[in-house]
Amino acid sequence: MDIGYTEAQLRVAAVAAVRAPSLHNTQPWRLRLRDGGIEVLADRSRRLPATDPSGWGVRVACGAALFNLRIALAVAGTPARVRLRPDPAEPDLLARLVPDLPRRPTPAEQSLCAAIPRRFSNRLPFWPDPVPADVRWRLGEAAQAEQCWLELLIGVSAVSAFGEIARSAHRVLERDPAYRAETERWLRREPAPDGVPAWAAGPQREPQDVLPARGFGGRDRAPGRDFEPEPLVGVLGSAGNTAVDQVIAGQALQRLLLVATDAGLGVSMLSQPIEVPTAREQLRLSLGRFGTPQMVLRIGYGQPGRPTARRDVDEVLDLPAVST
Ligand SMILES: Cc1cc2nc3c(=O)[nH]c(=O)nc-3n(C[C@H](O)[C@H](O)[C@H](O)COP(=O)(O)O)c2cc1C
Repeated sequence: MDIGYTEAQLRVAAVAAVRAPSLHNTQPWRLRLRDGGIEVLADRSRRLPATDPSGWGVRVACGAALFNLRIALAVAGTPARVRLRPDPAEPDLLARLVPDLPRRPTPAEQSLCAAIPRRFSNRLPFWPDPVPADVRWRLGEAAQAEQCWLELLIGVSAVSAFGEIARSAHRVLERDPAYRAETERWLRREPAPDGVPAWAAGPQREPQDVLPARGFGGRDRAPGRDFEPEPLVGVLGSAGNTAVDQVIAGQALQRLLLVATDAGLGVSMLSQPIEVPTAREQLRLSLGRFGTPQMVLRIGYGQPGRPTARRDVDEVLDLPAVST
């Protein structure tokens, strides 16, 4: 009887896993096949020391990769049972997936899986068209399905109050030369398997912008091509802020991004107010919610774009040695 996942099943699912988003496209994950289980590990060597001293970003990215793994395995007819941080002695082991009873994928799983290769960060200005109420509701439902919450900021005053928090967090980060050097190091002007390509950057920041886009060296904008004046901003939060909560938040983030992609929406992420502890606390208080904000999203209808590169799947796989 088949009691575990095979290398072939892992390879198929890994192609989906590595499409997950990560801070500066660092791809800080490893996937291991052990005793028939697929394991997701944080790759410490790819953490950003200045931008992500606590490892929050690594765990959120690994959570997003874990969600893609779950969906890809389910669509292949071999859904997983998941244990988060199964071994206290190995803190970098974030999740272990073992086969559950085989079953047919649901239509929802199939739509989410089809969205995996189409999703990308859209940092360009969005069209002014509002996001309809039923789509907003689906986004909130996606967060809840993964034990998280999504707070959509409605109205000019909520968005401009958030903009102030985000801009001051951005200024705090930009004052640190190590942070600036790190961002520069992950910017790619030539084709590369990781990092943020210059073509994926939004336009250069300008003083009138409500939200502080991260400086990935974008182009000057054409006159009149400002960002939408009243963006739809969503704050994704989790119940707590342990390592497990951050992996849970990563899964919720990815479900939400895939639901948005499936609905034809563009999304960009904005995490400066999460990375600066005082800004994160201000954001939490301004929302009046229990729990911890884990990511901020700008959501809207945008111009088409394309996915960024990833490293070869073989670079992230750790397979059992073949005995001879
Ligand atoms: C934890 C985390 C934080 C991120 N923060 C930002 C951010 O502040 N600004 C931004 O433009 N993108 C941010 N991103 C998006 C990444 O830059 C993006 O996922 C990566 O470059 C890969 O590109 P893709 O999303 O198009 O696949 C973040 C992603 C994650 C997972």
